[in-house]
Amino acid sequence: MKYLAVIGVGRMGGKHALNLAKGRVKGARLACVCDTDKNALDKWRSKCAVYEDYKTMAEREKLDAVVIATPHYSHVEIAKYFLERNIAVLTEKPVSVTVEWAEELNEVAKNSGALFGIMYNQRTNPVYAHVRELVKSGALGTVRRANVTVTDWYRSQFYYDMGGWRASWSGEGGGTLINQCVHQLDVMQWILGMPGSVSAVCRTVNRNISTENEVCANFDYGTFSVVFTASAHEVPGVNMMEIAGDKGLVKAGKFKARIYLLKKSESEINALSRRDYGNKEDKKYKKYTVRYGLFRLIRDGIRGQQCNILCDFVRALEKGGALLAPGEEGINGLQLINGVYASNWLKKTVTLPLDGKAYTKLLKEHAEAEKKGGC
Ligand SMILES: NC(=O)c1ccc[n+]([C@@H]2O[C@H](COP(=O)([O-])OP(=O)(O)OC[C@H]3O[C@@H](n4cnc5c(N)ncnc54)[C@H](O)[C@@H]3O)[C@@H](O)[C@H]2O)c1
Repeated sequence: MKYLAVIGVGRMGGKHALNLAKGRVKGARLACVCDTDKNALDKWRSKCAVYEDYKTMAEREKLDAVVIATPHYSHVEIAKYFLERNIAVLTEKPVSVTVEWAEELNEVAKNSGALFGIMYNQRTNPVYAHVRELVKSGALGTVRRANVTVTDWYRSQFYYDMGGWRASWSGEGGGTLINQCVHQLDVMQWILGMPGSVSAVCRTVNRNISTENEVCANFDYGTFSVVFTASAHEVPGVNMMEIAGDKGLVKAGKFKARIYLLKKSESEINALSRRDYGNKEDKKYKKYTVRYGLFRLIRDGIRGQQCNILCDFVRALEKGGALLAPGEEGINGLQLINGVYASNWLKKTVTLPLDGKAYTKLLKEHAEAEKKGGC
């Protein structure tokens, strides 16, 4: 049996703690929780030991792992503290707010004997896993184009006004991109790999916040581009990923994907073509649908998709083997996010991987300007 603590029992951490307390994670028990806010601890006092300070908790408890669900800026500091003591860490996304600090954390993780995971729960979506397999196996052929549109993470002004740290450069390190879209960007790079550069424009539409709630980015992969569009002010919104390869097309939503696999590749169709629009008989394809699945949909609806990552983390803690979402990979999504913000601020294309130190400087300047009311 592995004993876990949850640090930060607000909206998300509270769900992690509940999943552990209810025995939904095989092989794991909730040892204790920690939160700097006494009110957040109140509902846990009758269930487990509670702490206001994670260092005191580490001294008093014999822990196998901690789950970090605090605001973004604190992830690296807390994760380092436990990894340096050889206690396994599962951190919430994003791993950090800057690539520079994520690099430092990865260095600590490399030198630690402890397991390090990240809550990239969208990787447990069977639809995305299938799309990834199609791309990685070559079934879709050479990728030629992709569009990722995420405009269904609606956030009202009420949401932004709820928590002091949200949608600010100084508290969150960004807006809709770093908070919600970090998931889609991770899935994008998990499936397609990392681009070589990004050029982006960010906007704040119809909300009183200092960060963006709309992003339009072009990720350049050298031989193809991904057009990435995200917003948090649109109703009803869209969540769609299209990937076109020379052997087919994928149209993937959150719950199902339509797959079109060509009988002949586009290169063959082109070579055989003796008509201006190609030969109709050469353009035939097999079509099928992949679904999330009713059982998974109900299960993930009840306990949250995040519980799948918790289960995978505890499985690796107990039995070894690779994690579905290793913490060290958290930096990839962050590269994309920092790249988008830098491109928007500097009004130029940014080469990836970017200079982490230079980005941290830029972010600090924006956080300072925000405090003076300039953002
Ligand atoms: N994986 C997902 O789908 C998902 C969904 C929502 C939020 N999140 C992530 O979860 C994290 C928390 O978000 P939230 O919405 O729960 O925020 P929240 O503000 O509701 O909760 C954060 C909690 O952390 C506590 N806290 C702050 N600093 C602390 C410290 N140093 N030590 C201990 N406790 C501390 C706060 O008092 C608060 O109770 C963020 O990283 C967020 O991006 C992930």
